[in-house]
Parts: sequence; C-alpha cells; structure tokens
Amino acid sequence: MAKKRILSGMRPTGRLHLGNYVGALENWIELQKTYDSYHMVADWHMLTTSLETKNIREDSIEVVIDWLATGLDPEKSPMFVQSHIREHAELHLILSMLVTVARLQRNPTVKEQARDLGLEANMSYGHLGYPVLQAADILLYKADAVPVGEDQAPHVEITRELARRFNFVFQEVFPEPETILTQFARLPGLDGKKMSKSLNNAIYLSDSPEQVSKSMMQAYTDPTRMRKTDPGHPEGCVVFAYHEKFAPETAEQVCADCKAGALGCVDHKRQMAQVVSETLEPIREKRIYFETHRDEVKDIIRAGDEKARTVAVQTMEDVRKAVCLG
Ligand code: TRP
Repeated sequence: MAKKRILSGMRPTGRLHLGNYVGALENWIELQKTYDSYHMVADWHMLTTSLETKNIREDSIEVVIDWLATGLDPEKSPMFVQSHIREHAELHLILSMLVTVARLQRNPTVKEQARDLGLEANMSYGHLGYPVLQAADILLYKADAVPVGEDQAPHVEITRELARRFNFVFQEVFPEPETILTQFARLPGLDGKKMSKSLNNAIYLSDSPEQVSKSMMQAYTDPTRMRKTDPGHPEGCVVFAYHEKFAPETAEQVCADCKAGALGCVDHKRQMAQVVSETLEPIREKRIYFETHRDEVKDIIRAGDEKARTVAVQTMEDVRKAVCLG
C-alpha cells in the first residue's frame, strides 16, 4: 500500500531553538520513517507579520540547515521553499473564494496574534487570510495528515472545510487531511514564557556549551527559595521542565531532592546545562558541516523544489480541470 503523505512547514525565522525542535522537528524526524513527508519553508507566510524581507532568503537556508542537522533526511523528506513553487499562490486564490471573511475572523490563532501584535484594527487582508494560504500549502500536495502544534490546529480545520467545499462545488480533488498533534507540551523559554526568538528567552540548536551554560544560569527560578536548603517547587520550574524532557530517567529523584531542599537551583542548572549541551553536541557538529557546505544545502533545496513542483503541477492540472478555468 502507498505510504500516507504528510506536509508541514515552518516560517523562516533564522536559526531554530530548542522549542522548535521539541515542538515540531523532533516529531517530523520520527514521522519520516513511516510517512511520505514534505517539508516547506513558509517564506510567503513571513510577509503577514513583517515586510522586512531582505534576510528571508538567508534565514530560509538557516532553517533548512537546522532541519538537516537534527536528522531530517532529504531522501525521505524533500525540503522546499514555498515561494519557489508559484502554484501555492494560484491555489490560494481559488480557495479564497470558498471561505467567508466571518469564518476567518473567528480563527482563535489569528485573533490571538492580532491581540499580541496590537493589530486588531489594521490587520492586512493577507494576514487574515494566511490560514487559506496554509490550506493551499497542504492541499497542493494532497496531504493525508499535517503534524503541527496546537496553535496551528484551527488552520488544519479550515483546510478540511476548504477541501470539502471544493470537492462539493467543483469535483472530488482533495483528501481531507488529519491533524497530528505534537505530543510533548511546549518547552518553556528561560523566563517561563513561550520560547521565542523575539522574547530573547531561547536556547538555540547552534549554541556552544558556554552559551548554553550562560543561558541556563539566567533561567527563571523560584523567587520564594532564598537558600538551597529551602524546599523547592519543581512544578512550574523552567529547569525542571528541561529535566523532564532531556533526562526523564532522573526526573523523579531530582524532583524529590529539590522539594526536600537537598538540591539547589545553581547545582541543578549546572547539571542541566551539561545535559542540554550533550544533546546538542551531535546537532552542532552536523550544523557546522552544513554551515561550511552551503552549496550542498542549496542543492538539497533545489532537489526538494523539484520533487514538490512535480506534485504541485499535477494537482493544479486537476484543479483547473475541475474549475473549468486556466
Ligand atoms: N503557519 C505555520 C506557522 O506559523 C507554518 C506553515 C505554513 C505550515 N504552511 C504550513 C504548517 C502548512 C503546516 C502546514 O508555524
């Protein structure tokens, strides 16, 4: 039986951090074993929140370098850049006729972004419609499933509605993709908020052991704990969240020691800096290889574009036939 297909994407935000790894990439690497996988750098999506475009090309390459360094395999998972495949824009145009403005305004993720960015009164038409562009990304490859974090689930829901509507209005072209939710809960940033480049609270996959150690020392700690012998509170502690993720086998013991006042925050941070650095070591090494072989990375993207284009062109032929245009 043919393998099921997944498609997922990331915005080209430049170098990736541990939150991107735990929230998405790790899942993709696992899924490429059993799915026919396509992964996309969503560069057009970047325009929804910033018109500063001059670094996007370089940032796209940085993202792909991190994908390769963590183990995404270009043989199994073609990696391509959205704007290189113009068919995304054509399908987006057609899909945009099949959804109401009111439906898009109800999208909780877009609403939250508008609130966070203070954009409620002056959001662009393209920003409001980016879930439709995302639907085009997914449907163009007739993906059966989309691995994403919880915040992106509303967009997959819109994608399913658009697939149904297109199939009903025109002809049966698209499967309705399932959502594959990332299993591990979000990894917090050093300050306890969501790990994010713009909040300056991230540990990057490219960070040296010295940098990891420096960052870890700045992690938010329990303000009620003045002395090491005071009882600690592992629940809600950032360092403990990293512990559970990267050294689960000792988490229980550390939890008990912390609560009993037998393990201080500074010692715990030192331990975790070491564990995280060791986790990052092989990634950092591969990263250095690709950093210094950028032409190879560009070739990988070119090959990914080709594979993606073959599928995209075929789907658009089906679409044009169904719509009786073009
Ligand atoms: N919107 C996603 C994000 O901000 C990125 C993305 C674009 C995506 N197209 C996609 C994710 C298609 C999954 C499928 O993270």
